[in-house]
Amino acid sequence: MKIKYLLLAVAMIGLTAFSNANLDETYINSSKIKSSKIQISDGEKLIAKSDCIGCHNKDKKVVGPSYVDIANKYAANDKNINYLSGKIIKGGSGVWGTLPMGAHASLTKDDAKSMVKYILSLKK
Ligand code: HEC
Repeated sequence: MKIKYLLLAVAMIGLTAFSNANLDETYINSSKIKSSKIQISDGEKLIAKSDCIGCHNKDKKVVGPSYVDIANKYAANDKNINYLSGKIIKGGSGVWGTLPMGAHASLTKDDAKSMVKYILSLKK
């Protein structure tokens, strides 16, 4: 009997923690959307979770070109989205200089495409 209550208590704690986390995320997302008036795209979220930030900045060149520079160089069409998402997955060099971008072999093509669509939406 005691064990049953214990299990129930553990389950309740787990559920509360889970729903609080969800609420927090919803709150953070909606407040960001309100303050910037820009909806956070899947691509932007994926980029924030990946290592891109170590080498890329939105509008300043770091190790790699800025996203705005990339967006200004490529029109947002299927051919470029395919090429760029493939390049993120395989890595490579020679387009912006001699420094290489490492491969991101664990990214799916769809996720890489979402990232590229976000980057190309930053065209100025
Ligand atoms: C180790 C540093 C590094 C990391 C991490 C990195 N990049 Fe890059 N990225 C570069 C460099 C350097 C280039 C320029 C490559 C070239 O000249 O061909 C580049 C180029 C690019 C390009 C343009 C490719 C082209 O052929 O014009 C895109 C798009 C891009 N990166 C997206 C990303 C995304 C998205 C991520 C995260 C998943 C990422 N990068 C992570 C260094 C990096």
